[in-house]
Amino acid sequence: MRTFEKSTKLNNVSYDIRGPVMDEANAMEAMGTRILKLNIGNPAPFRFEAPDEMIRDMIYNLRDTEGYSSSKGLFSARKAIMQYCQLKNIPNVDIDDIYTGNGVSELIAMAMQGLLNTGDEILVPSPDYPLWTASITLAGGTAVHYHCDEQAEWYPDIEDIKSKVTSRTKGIVVINPNNPTGALYPREVLQDIVDVARENELIIFADEIYDRLVMDGLKHTAISSLCPDLFCVNLNGLSKSHRVAGWRCGWMCLSGDKSKVRGYIEGLNMLSSMRLCSNVPGQSIIQTAMGGIQSADELLMPGGRIYEQREVIYNMLNDIPGVSVVKPKAAFYIFPKLDIEKFNIHDDEQFALDFLRKKKILVTHGRGFHWDQPDHFRIVYLPEKEQLEYACKELADFLSTYHQ
Ligand SMILES: Cc1ncc(COP(=O)(O)O)c(C=O)c1O
Repeated sequence: MRTFEKSTKLNNVSYDIRGPVMDEANAMEAMGTRILKLNIGNPAPFRFEAPDEMIRDMIYNLRDTEGYSSSKGLFSARKAIMQYCQLKNIPNVDIDDIYTGNGVSELIAMAMQGLLNTGDEILVPSPDYPLWTASITLAGGTAVHYHCDEQAEWYPDIEDIKSKVTSRTKGIVVINPNNPTGALYPREVLQDIVDVARENELIIFADEIYDRLVMDGLKHTAISSLCPDLFCVNLNGLSKSHRVAGWRCGWMCLSGDKSKVRGYIEGLNMLSSMRLCSNVPGQSIIQTAMGGIQSADELLMPGGRIYEQREVIYNMLNDIPGVSVVKPKAAFYIFPKLDIEKFNIHDDEQFALDFLRKKKILVTHGRGFHWDQPDHFRIVYLPEKEQLEYACKELADFLSTYHQ
């Protein structure tokens, strides 16, 4: 009998945020169990609504967005993105250097498909947002993980980065603000990364989708603003800051010196044309979203929901014996550490499964983010304070008797 397997290209590809633990949660839900989901950074289900003006403008534009747009996107959208680049000092971005995408996700895949040959290496943070590693692998490349240091606010370990550069390294991925740690990198750390990239002629891939979700009065620095002489691929979008993840609205901007990347840009243009264009109704509200008042600001100040939810989750997690955590400065993720000796944990995926089965709460195990020890997990702190308080009490209760 003829059977059909997944392609061998997918053999080493994993995306565990939607992996086996989530499958188990779905099966439990199908049996009628209510699950508290702390696993996916999707603001809308947690009552984070898009600004009314964006809904209105999408309705206003719907009739005019039935057809394909030009493959890189609508002029009005790309102009607004270009102006945002100017405000962030992202250098040398013209209208043709901007590609809209069906979320940043599509553009990550495109950026890797257009560049990598078998065996080419890209430096990726550990922990990472796992789509990067998956896309590199699927494109035939090798993701080489550099360490981010929990003892140093989860900043990238520059010596580790240097030690992992080889003659096959083509680029470095910098996720800032970071998912899953919630870290925000200061200028000095970014400068050190730029220095390594310059010395080794690397392309910088800057995933800055959380750049408008920063707390504590801190400011985000676009890494490309520090290096007009280097070629950078900057990625951003509206999924998180404007709570419209379902509208699949992202963009990629090529900045800096493009003299050595003409061939790569030709590849990107081919791939962009081949997918015809990104979701045009989504593109039509980029101008609205990027102009005027930044809509997430009040959520991030004391009294705002994201800020207050971070305080609850951070304080309550740190009070649980055997759990410690670095305070996140941005986004809406927290990446706590478990005392694996105390709990005798060998397998963090099993821990997440056991917690799910016993307490009906879904978290993502740390190795899903290419963290090399079974001692972390990620919580998305989008649910309301009361639900987070409940989750922490249940976690404390679960851990008080847990041994693997
Ligand atoms: C760091 C990072 N990059 C990219 C994405 C993809 O976002 P989207 O495809 O919705 O634009 C996410 C989503 O969680 C993310 O956390």
